[in-house]
Amino acid sequence: MIKDLQQEILRLKKEKDACILAHSYMSEDVCEVADFVGDSYALSVKAKSVPQKTVLMCGVRFMAETVKMLSPQKTVYLVNPQAGCPMAEQFDKEVISEVKKMYPDYAVVAYINTTTELKTIADVCVTSASAVKICRAIPQKNILFIPDINLGAYVKGQVPEKNFKLLSGGCPTHAKIEKSDVAAAKKAHPNALLLVHPECRPEVTEAADFIGSTTGIMDFAIKSDKKEFIIGTENSIVQHLQFKCPEKNFFPLSKDLVCHNMKITTLPDVFNCLLGRGGEEIILDEETRVKAVKSIEKMIEYGG
Ligand code: 13P
Ligand code: SF4
Repeated sequence: MIKDLQQEILRLKKEKDACILAHSYMSEDVCEVADFVGDSYALSVKAKSVPQKTVLMCGVRFMAETVKMLSPQKTVYLVNPQAGCPMAEQFDKEVISEVKKMYPDYAVVAYINTTTELKTIADVCVTSASAVKICRAIPQKNILFIPDINLGAYVKGQVPEKNFKLLSGGCPTHAKIEKSDVAAAKKAHPNALLLVHPECRPEVTEAADFIGSTTGIMDFAIKSDKKEFIIGTENSIVQHLQFKCPEKNFFPLSKDLVCHNMKITTLPDVFNCLLGRGGEEIILDEETRVKAVKSIEKMIEYGG
């Protein structure tokens, strides 16, 4: 059944000249029908160059909006309209405008997990894979990093030459992981390396052998000559790694590392979206898009 549906999706994709982009948190069956699977940074870069006129984003809303910002001439769909990122909604433009007034000489560096509206007042966007590089590269010495306090703290530690102000936003999925989860996982798997996403709290990242984006974690595990890994990010990465490296063992840092927003998109959703009976077409107000896309273009310029 899964294979049949996948075959139908591949046929429809060709017929409709559509490209499927999938974030690495999608389940294996969705990743298999995608033209490209990657982390937020790679998806943004890819969005600029896909040849098809229609793009389906299997991920969360800000990712589909980023594609539309970069390719306004394309028809872009968020495959499941219920997929939002709670962190992206934590601060709105009005609140950050007030904070900006308190720190007029600070550059606003916004995690890409923000709304299009909020991006209009950001100087530059970053992703987990590119944040350190970009914060080092931008000319400003003072950085107001929004909204993730954990990613911000990690970047601050890596870029000591700059001054950071952090706000108290964050990812509810990663931020609920505690030191006790690390202790329990290490006790259960004493020979495993701990690989974590920088959205985890500092007491978790401090205990890690590697800190990186979803793609960064996967690349590290694939290239490593070690055999066991505890994965400190959404549990779909455990699944993908188990498929890619059947001779290695991967363990979730916590069974609660589940992002329900990422998990809501299913293979039948992709099918329905291609048939025009599901998904949501992303429409952005042109004035807002033009202002917001500057921060994404700067990200790609500094991120390489
Ligand atoms: P990446 O940039 O690592 O893909 O992370 C996106 C995200 O939402 C992590 O929670
Ligand atoms: Fe947002 Fe966290 Fe889900 Fe990523 S894992 S999409 S940051 S809620």
